[in-house]
Amino acid sequence: MQYDFGMIGLGTMGRNFLLNVADKGFSAAGLDLDPEKAASLNEEAGHRKMQATTDQAEFLQMLKSPRRIMLLVPAGKIVDKVIEGLLPHLDQGDLIIDGGNSHYNDTARRAENLNAKGIRFLGVGVSGGEEGARRGPSIMPGGDFSAWEDVQSILEAVSAKVDREPCVAYMGKGAAGHYVKMVHNGIEYGMMQLIAETYDLMRRIGGFSNEEIHETFTQWNQGPLQSFLIEITATIFGQKDDKTEGHLIDAILDKAKQKGTGKWTSQSAMDLGVPVPTIDAAVTMRGLSSFFDFRQEAGQKYGSFPTESIENKTTFAIQLEHALLFSFILTYAQGLHLLAVASKEMGLELNLSETAKIWRGGCIIRAEILEDIRQAYAARPDLENLIASSVFRGRLKTLLSSVRAVVETATQNGIPLLALSSALHYFESLRAPRLPLNLVQAQRDYFGAHTYERLDGDGETYHTEWGK
Ligand code: 6PG
Repeated sequence: MQYDFGMIGLGTMGRNFLLNVADKGFSAAGLDLDPEKAASLNEEAGHRKMQATTDQAEFLQMLKSPRRIMLLVPAGKIVDKVIEGLLPHLDQGDLIIDGGNSHYNDTARRAENLNAKGIRFLGVGVSGGEEGARRGPSIMPGGDFSAWEDVQSILEAVSAKVDREPCVAYMGKGAAGHYVKMVHNGIEYGMMQLIAETYDLMRRIGGFSNEEIHETFTQWNQGPLQSFLIEITATIFGQKDDKTEGHLIDAILDKAKQKGTGKWTSQSAMDLGVPVPTIDAAVTMRGLSSFFDFRQEAGQKYGSFPTESIENKTTFAIQLEHALLFSFILTYAQGLHLLAVASKEMGLELNLSETAKIWRGGCIIRAEILEDIRQAYAARPDLENLIASSVFRGRLKTLLSSVRAVVETATQNGIPLLALSSALHYFESLRAPRLPLNLVQAQRDYFGAHTYERLDGDGETYHTEWGK
């Protein structure tokens, strides 16, 4: 039997993705060096046209020509190692798909190397975790267009669907798929931190119990904030701890780990000169959270702020809902602005309306608001920033007073709000016709003769002997 699709790496993601492929009627072959993983997939295969092996030669013989081989192995050196091991045994035109969270520079390098050897390559972002891989992820493929056409029907079949439309589309050239997935994760970091800050305000100023937080998030998920992250947050606050009387959330150590995709987003944004302060703030807060012991000591030395408590929980919850919605929109705005610039600078040829479209389902940042974002970019494909879109202008103006009030309340009560306030300040800066950076230019010219331009000039540069 010749199989339609091969998967290397039968860990959680690979195994579930392959089962999904087989469920859609494609024959599916799996390879993992761990005999237990291969055996357990064979056990689960049942009626499906599916077989797993630990033998690479056998696996390669099982696949139809041209071979379509997807890798779901940990990003980094392992990807190169697997590719190296495959290369001597592949035929011209075979296709390798890297479905992990690879760095886009690695993807660009691998694409170049493989194409030079006549092997086609796709760098594909897959989002949605274990459940997504099994039931329908959002899939962000980039690279060789003919390779995309070759696997389009399979990827469309396995992807999540929204309004019957598949949450997969060709993203663009080169490393486009992994770049889009990286920015997806940057936005994910931002949204998670924004939700965490909102929770902090609810419990420390609002006096909300875990049950009340659970109810509030459940209710928010019925409205404009409807999203996967709000939904799972509601569930998290309903979870009891099986070791104590309380809720599990209160037993979890407040030190957040990271695998790097949020940091990569910030790094790339810095390189391209695109501000993404809410994503930066989220990465920074994971860093700050890691100084747990220091925080305990410093907390004692500086003492705690007396926090005022809110008089009306319902009004406060509405303010928080507005602030969260505002900052969600601004986080998407930052990520998409980065994509727009990266697309031009790196020649990725991204289509942002398509990107928003495939993020509507399956992925971690899926949210109802992405339909409006899709429409904003469909109406204006060259839209520089979401805040310039008429689709969002009215909404942002209406939400603004709540965001300001929330930031003020947090500041007065000594509660850190790095991400949420960064979204506000990002907005206030982008809509400010004048910023005080004329002074920065004057200072640069003062100490470094770096020159400045004049408002009434025509792009000419000036230098002043300051104070003389
Ligand atoms: C997804 C997730 C997934 C993974 C993150 C976690 O889209 O399905 O983003 O890729 O869970 O990489 O990232 P951190 O460990 O950095 O939080």
